[in-house]
Amino acid sequence: MGRKPEYGNWVSKKFIYIPGVISLVLFGLALLVPSLVIPAGLFFLASLYFVYARYRFSPGGGNVQDQIRELVLAPLGWNGEGQALDIGCGNAALTIKLAHKYARARVIGIDYWGRKWEYSKSVCERNAKVEGVTERVTFQKASASALPFEDEYFDAVVSNLVFHEVNDVADKRALIREALRVVKKGGKFAFQDLFLLKRVYGSMDELMGTIRDWGIRKVEFFETKDSAFIPMPLKLPFMLGTIGLIIGEK
Ligand SMILES: C[S@@+](CC[C@H](N)C(=O)[O-])C[C@H]1O[C@@H](n2cnc3c(N)ncnc32)[C@H](O)[C@@H]1O
Repeated sequence: MGRKPEYGNWVSKKFIYIPGVISLVLFGLALLVPSLVIPAGLFFLASLYFVYARYRFSPGGGNVQDQIRELVLAPLGWNGEGQALDIGCGNAALTIKLAHKYARARVIGIDYWGRKWEYSKSVCERNAKVEGVTERVTFQKASASALPFEDEYFDAVVSNLVFHEVNDVADKRALIREALRVVKKGGKFAFQDLFLLKRVYGSMDELMGTIRDWGIRKVEFFETKDSAFIPMPLKLPFMLGTIGLIIGEK
């Protein structure tokens, strides 16, 4: 086979190029208007910051991106018997990780696969094939807002950094409820998203209370940035600082 899976980098190159080019233009103009040297320097620093972030996210720079996905599976506490769902599977990195961790489980990955990300069902299927899990893993186009499964269908449900991206529903809490709908009684769940963004999810205490009111037996919340592997500069709010993990048992 010899090929490698394509999992990409969440820090798109445009975050480096756009401020980089703006800074060059401003440095040029600063020859005529010296005060432009300040914004030019700031854009240059922004570009450097994203070079650093992209490097730290990559396999050669500590693989922070992959470790963030690991955080979803580590506390799941599932015995691996039965079926699992990965909501918003992207290019299947987490779906495949789940299949590797639970060698007897069947895993379904769903995603809307819109234009914003360079992900597709065929990329997922290719990655699953390269990783040797194709017999236990399938992919389906669907929205997180209306999962095409009966109530209590899955033994475990996970999702990583998806809910805030879903555009076809205004109240993102409804996505958590929809995800929990398809978890079996006694089944496990772990959802990672920008849960600390108050304008999106409100207060975490309130959200935890609401989830319990939905009849969920156990639910806990962790802040992702508290994980030791995340370097200080990546804990800024616009990077990883507002990410949290909701885990529990239905
Ligand atoms: C930041 S990526 C995360 C992908 C993957 N979970 C991972 O860990 O790499 C966000 C994903 O959400 C997906 N997405 C956006 N809207 C969606 C929707 N309505 N239903 C399902 N997935 C959606 C995007 O297509 C993209 O794959």
